[in-house]
Amino acid sequence: MVYTSNTNGLSEETINKLIETAKAYRRHSYAPYSHYNVGAAVLDKNGNITGGCNIENAAYSPGICAERNAIYKAVSEWTSDNRIIAIAIAGSPEGDRITQYAFPCGVCRQVIREFADPEECLVIVAGPGNDREERTLEELLPDSFGPDNLA
Ligand code: THU
Repeated sequence: MVYTSNTNGLSEETINKLIETAKAYRRHSYAPYSHYNVGAAVLDKNGNITGGCNIENAAYSPGICAERNAIYKAVSEWTSDNRIIAIAIAGSPEGDRITQYAFPCGVCRQVIREFADPEECLVIVAGPGNDREERTLEELLPDSFGPDNLA
């Protein structure tokens, strides 16, 4: 079953490409402590797709989520005004299969917010098989604090 509340007009092909990229990057996950593997893929306004995975650390707190890794990779390549249009996430305990929906943590929601319009940005979460859930960032982080508050 595919649940969709896609409001921003992304094609099925683009959504599938984002999910496949997130799943591919999940295989790069370095998670020897939690054994929880996550991949993410960011789509920006210019059509670039950037992947990332979670990377843990023996000192624990330096570890980073897949979403933030992908976002920081993407933003560090931007040379002009750009925005995040969508982000796909594929996370599950280690193993080949996605067995659950890994919605982004609160910190990652806030970091997406920094570079996205909450009403426009689509967050796509891969589930078992070909299932997925879609939310706008506004649904995941309502009444958010963002760059405009400091303008
Ligand atoms: N993790 C992510 O990569 N994204 C999330 O949104 C939630 C959690 C990672 C962090 C850590 O490496 C592992 O999953 C378990 O929390």
